[in-house]
Amino acid sequence: MAIYDLFMEPLERNGLRRLRKKLVPKARGKVLEIGAGTGLNLDYYDKEKVSSLVMVDRDLKSRVLKKKLVDFGNLNTAFKEENVMKLSFPSGSFDTVVFTLVFCTVADVEQGLKEIKRVLKNEGSIIFIEHVRPKAEPLGKTFDTLTPLWKKLASGCHLNRETEETLKNMGFDLKVEDKIMKDIFLGGTGTIKKTAR
Ligand SMILES: C[S@@+](CC[C@H](N)C(=O)[O-])C[C@H]1O[C@@H](n2cnc3c(N)ncnc32)[C@H](O)[C@@H]1O
Repeated sequence: MAIYDLFMEPLERNGLRRLRKKLVPKARGKVLEIGAGTGLNLDYYDKEKVSSLVMVDRDLKSRVLKKKLVDFGNLNTAFKEENVMKLSFPSGSFDTVVFTLVFCTVADVEQGLKEIKRVLKNEGSIIFIEHVRPKAEPLGKTFDTLTPLWKKLASGCHLNRETEETLKNMGFDLKVEDKIMKDIFLGGTGTIKKTAR
């Protein structure tokens, strides 16, 4: 098991796995997963609904992914090293874009979301799970205080991103379907607002 998977296990047990199980099977058609990491979502794709799956990450754990993809059957899969801020795919390539626990780390969130909008088909959807700045105080301010140190320890991860608001501001209609650990982790689906296409 990858070290990341071991590190994540307490969070997975505390609700993350439930979120993945609920949301990832909604992916359909041509699917792009951004920031795939060690492939923790792979167990939850519904192979009946997915026609192809491309997994990208700025720092690809190819050995781990290759091993996990062997168990994925004969579905059309690929993995590539790519940064969400500059994706190589033509516009309108995907029916679903999945990202889980990624935008806490992306250097330019708005540019990353612009790229997702670009590669998504007009009628396509996003599936997301992100951790965000808690709304309640003093927890929110505590997360602000911890973020500069946490960023250094955890590869640039911010504890205080307001990703739900940013997604809405960037032109996505969102349906937040579940939250865990109060409102620190949230997951849902979204589509591009008609006015933002
Ligand atoms: C916390 S891990 C999450 C991994 C996996 N999605 C999950 O749910 O367990 C964040 C992942 O996002 C990737 N990542 C961060 N910034 C990225 C970017 N700009 N473009 C592509 N991948 C990125 C990291 O390399 C890392 O694998």
